[in-house]
Amino acid sequence: MKLPRKFFEPLAIGAPLPLRDLPVKVERMIHFVPPHNEKVRAKIGELARDVDVVLGNLEDAVPVEAKEAARLGFIEMANAVDYGDTGLWTRINALNSPWMLDDITQIVAAIGAKLDVVMLPKVEGPWDIHYLDQLLAQLEARHHLRKPILIHAILETAEGVKNVDSIACASPRMHGMSLGPADLAASRAMKTTRVGGGHPDYKVLADSTAPDAQRASAQQDLWHYTIAKMVDACAANGIKPFYGPFGDFSDPQACETQFRNAFLMGCAGAWSLHPSQITIATNVFSPDVAEVAFAKRILEAMPNGSGAVMIDGKMQDDATWKQAKVIVDLAKQVAKKDPKLAAVYGV
Ligand code: GLV
Ligand code: MG
Repeated sequence: MKLPRKFFEPLAIGAPLPLRDLPVKVERMIHFVPPHNEKVRAKIGELARDVDVVLGNLEDAVPVEAKEAARLGFIEMANAVDYGDTGLWTRINALNSPWMLDDITQIVAAIGAKLDVVMLPKVEGPWDIHYLDQLLAQLEARHHLRKPILIHAILETAEGVKNVDSIACASPRMHGMSLGPADLAASRAMKTTRVGGGHPDYKVLADSTAPDAQRASAQQDLWHYTIAKMVDACAANGIKPFYGPFGDFSDPQACETQFRNAFLMGCAGAWSLHPSQITIATNVFSPDVAEVAFAKRILEAMPNGSGAVMIDGKMQDDATWKQAKVIVDLAKQVAKKDPKLAAVYGV
């Protein structure tokens, strides 16, 4: 473990200073695009106005024969558009793949100054972050970049989940992490064939002595444990947790429920893999209008954040004041990005 003063030193001569604080940004959805698809690239300008983050995906879901075209397509789409406040990210191929080195060297050389975050898949431990951290510092120095590129890890192997705390604090470049339920399911030998979401057979059943003739049962959340573990690791280190992909585009309700559980548990956003999921993520990860109004009442009732007051029969104290502040601060961030919500939140 490095001393804090060493932790914040650049890892290469000429590389920019690591950030002490993350940029404050609304990242309700990380919208995945396949950069090798010319039709998709042609609409990037329009898309960039509707989402918080545009991510050019180079990894899974890109066929092997399109890996180079995806990388070049990402460079093209990065150059073609002014992204303004919208984040520009890429998901590179895994460290053990034949493409990762060219992904990172070519992309940083060509468009490093426009790139906000590199999403690194299949992170197993802090050593994976250290490698990318050092490589990025060398490339930043070589290409005279002034702003450090951040790293976002995907939590999608059993080993990664085991090491989640040390991944979260591996480098000042850490932006956050996303749950990758599809790869994680495979890594754990879970008996599912889905990209995220629940399973009808993962449930609890009322006791056989229960009086109802029909024993009630309720489906449980397969991802609860991992999301909770990820949220704690991220919150403890001041980085951001995200739910990842939801693959059943025909079930928007289930997607919304999975996203909302993640939001309530502390996640900042989720991936959108289909345009319909942009709306779902916008709705879920923008705080509820009534909740914002109630949170504002708490802050107004306790101007210095201490003591105890009753509002609508519910006790409020220093701890609920802090919860209210989380919600109002988020509403303020969302309001900056979304004038319609700014008007209804009244912040
Ligand atoms: C995402 O990459 C996943 O494996 O779920
Ligand atoms: Mg994956």
